[in-house]
Amino acid sequence: MIKKCLFPVAGYGTRFLPATKSMPKEMLPIVNKPLVQYGVEEAIEAGMTTCAFVTGRGKRSIADHFDISYELEHQISGTGKEAYLDSIRGVLEEGVFTMVRQREMKGLGHAILTGRSLIGNEPFGVLLSDDLCLNAEGASVLAQMAELYNQFRCSIVAIQEVPMEEVHKYGVIKGESLKDGIYRVDDMVEKPSQEDAPSNLAIIGRYILTPDIFEIIEETEPGANGEIQLTDALQTQAKRGCVMAYKFEGKRFDCGSVPGFVEATNHVYENYYGKD
Ligand code: UTP
Repeated sequence: MIKKCLFPVAGYGTRFLPATKSMPKEMLPIVNKPLVQYGVEEAIEAGMTTCAFVTGRGKRSIADHFDISYELEHQISGTGKEAYLDSIRGVLEEGVFTMVRQREMKGLGHAILTGRSLIGNEPFGVLLSDDLCLNAEGASVLAQMAELYNQFRCSIVAIQEVPMEEVHKYGVIKGESLKDGIYRVDDMVEKPSQEDAPSNLAIIGRYILTPDIFEIIEETEPGANGEIQLTDALQTQAKRGCVMAYKFEGKRFDCGSVPGFVEATNHVYENYYGKD
């Protein structure tokens, strides 16, 4: 059973400037709930009740969100407004929240290595909360992947088919299809051009990683943009052992981009708001 999930939340969120100048991208709300809370709820649903945040400067409001706000609680206690706190109270009851700071933004791989002290030597989930995943039909995406981990016992990346014109935004896999939606990864390329892309199967922000990834990241040289890329470390792991890719069930919104964020907002408002 995987008990911990890592949330790399140290990035600058430049695509949302000026909104993200003094406010973390992860605290931007989709309707009335911050992106990061959707992520935490997904992790908890998957049984990963220890949520480990890799934060950075200017991200303190994330820590405050996953804590009690005594003044507010006192103020609205016994009023009809208390119901607005139900979802976050549920999360606080079930989850344990730990934090470490990434002092320099050296990429997602580096952020994950920074989280090592919070994870230890066990398999763990990784959730990038700017990818909002919703599955109204059944288990959450991370829960689907945790289930798959029990079968394969190796790292798993979530993938989605994207139009060829968009492959340059993602890590892309080359793999052998084992059964419906499950691939054994042979190769991966970070942000390839259309010509160099081995497929249109793009990695999105959900992973299950085995702890040997930490040593592999330590030996990984900076790649695209001078950053230590998780994709490069996963490629090494795939070559030495095994990495699986999983075409998940559900919808994914790229909330790190303005169009994806607006699409997610409309979808949640139309399909979820006021319905629980
Ligand atoms: P992104 O590539 O989306 O970068 O990072 P970003 O800074 O968040 O957003 P833009 O592109 O400037 O608008 C992917 C994920 O990895 C985390 C980010 O917080 C995000 O969740 N990350 C990235 C870190 O935690 N540390 C890093 O050094 C880099």
